[in-house]
Amino acid sequence: MVEVTNVTEYQAIAKEKLPKMAYDYYASGAEDQWTLAENRNAFSRILFRPRILIDVSKIDMTTTILGFKISMPIMIAPTAFQKMAHPEGEYATARAASSAGTIMTLSSWATSSVEEVASTGPGIRFFQLYVYKDRNVVAQLVRRAERAGFKAIALTVDTPRLGRREADIKNRFVLPPFLTLKNFEGLDLGSMDKAEDSGLASYVAGQIDRTLSWKDVKWLQTITSLPILVKGVLTAEDTRIAIQNGASGIIVSNHGARQLDYVPSTIMALEEVVKAAQGRVPVFLDGGVRRGTDVFKALALGASGIFIGRPVVFSLAAEGEAGVRKVLQMLKDEFELTMALSGCRSLSEITRNHIVTEWDAPKPLIAPRL
Ligand code: FNR
Repeated sequence: MVEVTNVTEYQAIAKEKLPKMAYDYYASGAEDQWTLAENRNAFSRILFRPRILIDVSKIDMTTTILGFKISMPIMIAPTAFQKMAHPEGEYATARAASSAGTIMTLSSWATSSVEEVASTGPGIRFFQLYVYKDRNVVAQLVRRAERAGFKAIALTVDTPRLGRREADIKNRFVLPPFLTLKNFEGLDLGSMDKAEDSGLASYVAGQIDRTLSWKDVKWLQTITSLPILVKGVLTAEDTRIAIQNGASGIIVSNHGARQLDYVPSTIMALEEVVKAAQGRVPVFLDGGVRRGTDVFKALALGASGIFIGRPVVFSLAAEGEAGVRKVLQMLKDEFELTMALSGCRSLSEITRNHIVTEWDAPKPLIAPRL
C-alpha cells in the first residue's frame, strides 16, 4: 500500500474497504452538499501573513480546555456507529485519543457504551448528548456518563430533525443487525427499524425531542454538574443566548454539513461567534478540518480548539486504532510546522494578524488621490 501522507487520503481507502451503505453514511452531507464542499473550500480562501526570523526551535502546542491540560488543540468530535467502520470502533478511538493526549467526544449513538469506553483506560472524554422525548432516559444517560468519568456534555442543538442525506435515503440506511446503539440497549431504544427512507431519519423522528429549547439547557444544568458545551451554534445571536443560559463553551458546527444545507462553512461563521462570546466562554470549531494549516486558521480567528469528525471514521475503517493515531499525529505535525513557519512558538502567539481573510478591509495599494 502507498504510504498515507495526509488526512484526506484515508477517505479513498475507506471507500474501498467499507460496504456502500456504511461509507455513504459517513461521507455524505445534506441535500446539494453545498455546505459540505464549502466547509473545505472556505479554508482555502484564508491566507497567511507569516512572521519571520523568530526563534522557533521550541514549539509548545499544549493547551487547557475546561481546566484539562491536553497536548494540542486538536480533539475528536462525536461520530455515531464507529463499529460500522471497524470492529473495535469507539474503543480504538478512545485509545488513540488518550495516547495522543487529547480529548475524545463519545456520541450518544455510539456502538459502545459510556461504561465500555471508560473501561479502555484513563483519558479525558466528553459525552455528546441527543435529547430524547423521554427525559428519564436522558437523565439516566447523563448520570451514567458522569459516573463513567466523562468531563463535559456536548449538547447537540442542530438536530431537532435529521437533515436530508440523499445517499442514506437511497440506501435505506439502517444500522447493521450485529450492532446496537449501546447506550440505549437496555431501554428498548437500541435498535433501528428499516424504513421507507433513511432508517436513522425515522428513528430521530420517533425518539428525538423536537420541542428542545433554551429552557432545556437550563433543565440539563439541574440534572448534572458537568459543564455544557452547546454544539451547533452558527450565529452571534445564539452565542449570546447560550452564554446567558449557562453554557460553558460553544462549538461552532454545522454537523459536518449534514443538517441544514446552505449554512456557511464553520470557519466563515467562527469570527462572528468569537466576537459575540467576548472571551466569556471558549469557542470551538468543527467542520472540514483536514490540515494543520486549518487548525492554525481557526485559532487565528479566535477558536480555543477544533474537533475532527470524518477523518476519525475513515482512518478507523482503513487501519483501526493505528489509523486514528496516525491522523492525530499528522495533524499535530502539520500544525507544529505551520506554527514554526508562521513564527509562533505557543498558541498564545497565534493572532488575527497571522492570517488575512476576504472579509478583511482591503489595504489600498496606491494612496487615494484627493
Ligand atoms: C457526525 N456528527 C455527529 N454529531 C453529533 O453531535 N452526534 C453524532 O452522533 C454525530 N454523528 C456523526 C456521524 C458522522 C458519520 C459524521 C460525519 C458526523 C457531526 C460531528 O460531530 C462533527 O460536527 C462533524 O463531523 C465535523 O465535520 P467533519 O470533521 O466531519 O468535516
